[in-house]
Amino acid sequence: MLYAILKTLHVLAIVVWVGGMVFAHFFLRPAVARLEPPVRLVLMHDVLGRFFRAVLAASLLALASGVWMLGRVARQVVQSGGSFEMPLAWTVMTVLGVAMAAIFLHIRFALYRRLDRAVSGQQWAAGGEALGQIRRWVAVNIGLGVLVLLVTLLRVGS
Ligand code: HEM
Repeated sequence: MLYAILKTLHVLAIVVWVGGMVFAHFFLRPAVARLEPPVRLVLMHDVLGRFFRAVLAASLLALASGVWMLGRVARQVVQSGGSFEMPLAWTVMTVLGVAMAAIFLHIRFALYRRLDRAVSGQQWAAGGEALGQIRRWVAVNIGLGVLVLLVTLLRVGS
């Protein structure tokens, strides 16, 4: 039962994280592109500030629940006398999950801070540049997230 709860939390956290990135990148961004820079940048700063707070929680939850599940399975195998070999899909998920979290930290604590400073100082050109960099790294994380989902759900390697 605990394992099922952990897995549910894990997948819900991924839904918020990857689903939110897809919405921002493919639907929100093109729609606000026609707005004047001051309006667009203030709006995106506000939306991203709220979204990144949710992603911070979701990414911590996804990583913690993932490592917890791994630990439980490994312990059960070892306790019953076997040796634990991590399935390929789980290895890919762990490595790319950690990479996604590192990219998110860069987005939140380097690039978003740059956007924040630019919006506070009404430096719209610098703000546009920071937003462009956020967009590029979010696209990378969408790619990694979709890759993890394909490898995991298609059970690649098993
Ligand atoms: C440190 C990072 C991560 C670790 C350690 C981890 C670990 C795990 C483990 C142990 C499971 C249980 C698999 C099973 O019982 O069959 C699982 C399930 C799952 N994980 Fe992760 N995960 C991580 C990150 C991610 C990421 C970034 C994604 C998606 C972008 C993801 C998507 C999923 C999905 C969809 C499942 C359900 C698979 C199924 O039941 O078929 N995980 N994860």
